[in-house]
Amino acid sequence: MRILFTGGSGKAGRHAVQYLLEQGHRVLNVDLTPCNVPGALNRIADITDLGAMHDAMRAYADFDELEPGTGVPAFDAVVHFAAVPRIMVTGDAECFRVNTLGTYNVIDAALKAGVRKVIFASSETTYGICFADGERKPEHIPVDEAHPTEPEDSYAMSKVVNEATARSFQRRSGADIYGLRINNVIEPHEYAEMFPGFINAPEKRLRNFFAYIDARDLGQMVECCLRTDGLGYEVFNVANDTHSVAAPTSELIAQFYEGVPQTREMGEHETFFTNEKAKRLVGFSPKYDWRSEL
Ligand SMILES: NC(=O)c1ccc[n+]([C@@H]2O[C@H](COP(=O)([O-])OP(=O)(O)OC[C@H]3O[C@@H](n4cnc5c(N)ncnc54)[C@H](O)[C@@H]3O)[C@@H](O)[C@H]2O)c1
Repeated sequence: MRILFTGGSGKAGRHAVQYLLEQGHRVLNVDLTPCNVPGALNRIADITDLGAMHDAMRAYADFDELEPGTGVPAFDAVVHFAAVPRIMVTGDAECFRVNTLGTYNVIDAALKAGVRKVIFASSETTYGICFADGERKPEHIPVDEAHPTEPEDSYAMSKVVNEATARSFQRRSGADIYGLRINNVIEPHEYAEMFPGFINAPEKRLRNFFAYIDARDLGQMVECCLRTDGLGYEVFNVANDTHSVAAPTSELIAQFYEGVPQTREMGEHETFFTNEKAKRLVGFSPKYDWRSEL
């Protein structure tokens, strides 16, 4: 596929871009800075600039596309990751502005250019636990996509708005638009750097709901979404099968979630952000686990 990928120079994006290149796709990265993954093509543009997004959707990706003499080829899909990735990076309103306006612009430009598949990065922070003022418990466990999304912070608010934006665009266009409620992204080198500091101190992972997603598995999830057509609008939790600490899930429940309704039995180390829907609807099958990566 010929794919336009926004935010491919970032932490999560460069692994997803690499994964997509390995699957044989052609990837044009649209970002404020270039992506240095070999084989990635780059276009410098700002997602908050609507004209630049319409322009990018009709852009040659490289010189070889001039050769056939048949005009600019169409993109088969757009993957939208570019964003201010959390609170406390910019001002709150700036984070909200960039993320919501940028997402509107990217999806609007994609659909008007005839793209029929858009995959966008939402976030587990939409559930409100991660950036709450004080401790906030989930309303039920495990947390599936039906759990309320009522966060308190500007970043997660922007992602909730983006989901509403995407749903409305899908309604009008009939295209496939899938949102990824991505968990805390872990790059391969971060297992050794980070995990020894918290695997036996689960309270340090409370705000992440103990969950994580390997950056390469996130790439696989994007590919699964590219391969699966006809779902209309959907959102998916994107988590690894297991959580990120050593204690069994039952111990974590006893220590941190006593009294929180539990909707079903959970596996010995099962993640609290269930990835069942992603497995069922698009065939997601995470491969990496900190227990073997460390
Ligand atoms: N890293 C995580 O743990 C995590 C978890 C959940 C969701 N997400 C989401 O995944 C996506 C990628 O996150 P990341 O961790 O790679 O973030 P990152 O900050 O490392 O990468 C974001 C990229 O977007 C680009 N960008 C920012 N503003 C832009 C603009 N106005 N125009 C064009 N490009 C712009 C940046 O240059 C950067 O390359 C984001 O949407 C983020 O909200 C990340």
